[in-house]
Amino acid sequence: MATTLISTHAGAEARCDARRGAALALDRFGAVERPELAYTPEVARETAPVYEKVRHIIPPIEWPALAPTIHAINRLKKERNAVILAHNYMTPEIFHGVADVVGDSLQLAIEATRTDAEVIVQCGVHFMAETSKILNPSKTVLIPDMRAGCSLAESVTAADVRGLRERNPGVPIITYVNTSAAVKAECDICCTSSNAVQVVESLGVDRVFLIPDKYLAANVARQTSVEVLTWDGACEVHERFTAQELRDYRRIDPDVKIIAHPECPPEVVAEADFAGSTAHMINWVKTRRPAKVMMITECSMADNVASETPEVEYIRPCNLCPHMKRITLSKILDALVEMKEEVLVDPDIAARARTAVERMINLKS
Ligand code: 13P
Ligand code: SF4
Repeated sequence: MATTLISTHAGAEARCDARRGAALALDRFGAVERPELAYTPEVARETAPVYEKVRHIIPPIEWPALAPTIHAINRLKKERNAVILAHNYMTPEIFHGVADVVGDSLQLAIEATRTDAEVIVQCGVHFMAETSKILNPSKTVLIPDMRAGCSLAESVTAADVRGLRERNPGVPIITYVNTSAAVKAECDICCTSSNAVQVVESLGVDRVFLIPDKYLAANVARQTSVEVLTWDGACEVHERFTAQELRDYRRIDPDVKIIAHPECPPEVVAEADFAGSTAHMINWVKTRRPAKVMMITECSMADNVASETPEVEYIRPCNLCPHMKRITLSKILDALVEMKEEVLVDPDIAARARTAVERMINLKS
């Protein structure tokens, strides 16, 4: 079934109310001393297992500059009763060095409902931190850089969704998780790239909106008989890949396996051997162990999975996500020392957004 593109305007409103109200969690948790950052024999010894996982990507000469911060973060995490949830696009020193849980958007949302920690440090972009807060209103959720946004989340506002509803009464609206809490609050159910087809088909109707990613919607539409209406949003990272460049790589090296994220344009996905969420892509490589693979997605993916798949050669025509890359080790340390920056969501918006997210999480797989 083809997709129908609904005309759009770029969302000019603020990403969500929570961003305006970053509060001083430091008042509630109290100050801790900023750790000394020295590459002592103790730091070298205690971070040696981490270095084993990242040695393929971080040269030994750089390790003394990173290890003290990794060591300090891991110590402070315990002191603050904090858990670090990190997206698969985090850099290897974060992914392998300080994260307690790594995963795609769905896995991180599910893990956010399971943690006993008092504080969640979300190493990812703002909508991911908001999702954790929506699911854990009583916990303190921090993001190391409040400016870590997402072109998809920026492309649609709550008012846009209300307009869609008015113009299309009775058509359910599914929101991709890459949206603000305010947008989720206006939608019927949430989805991620790992369950979008299942969510579309779970509603038992002939026609749905899947917003705001026009490419994800088009890729989903090819896998279902449900008509998928969409919005004119796109991921600024994945929309840059072209089918021609994939064909060119295959011509040069016919043995290479190509796997792509479904935020890529449909003609790119059509050229790939597999398409799936970041977690599904990682699983595909770990299970299949191809001799050579290209991951058509953000650059850190190949860096992170390479240590567990040393026999696989990674061909890397990747694109960086500038928003994900705002999250750095030193900002994570600052977050834990200064208890910043706190992500808040208006309780009424959070309650309505939670309905959409929980409806997705509770779907039987
Ligand atoms: P995943 O849910 O597949 O991790 O995707 C999130 C994302 O932002 C990809 O660009
Ligand atoms: Fe958003 Fe694209 Fe970055 Fe993912 S990769 S966070 S969709 S801009």
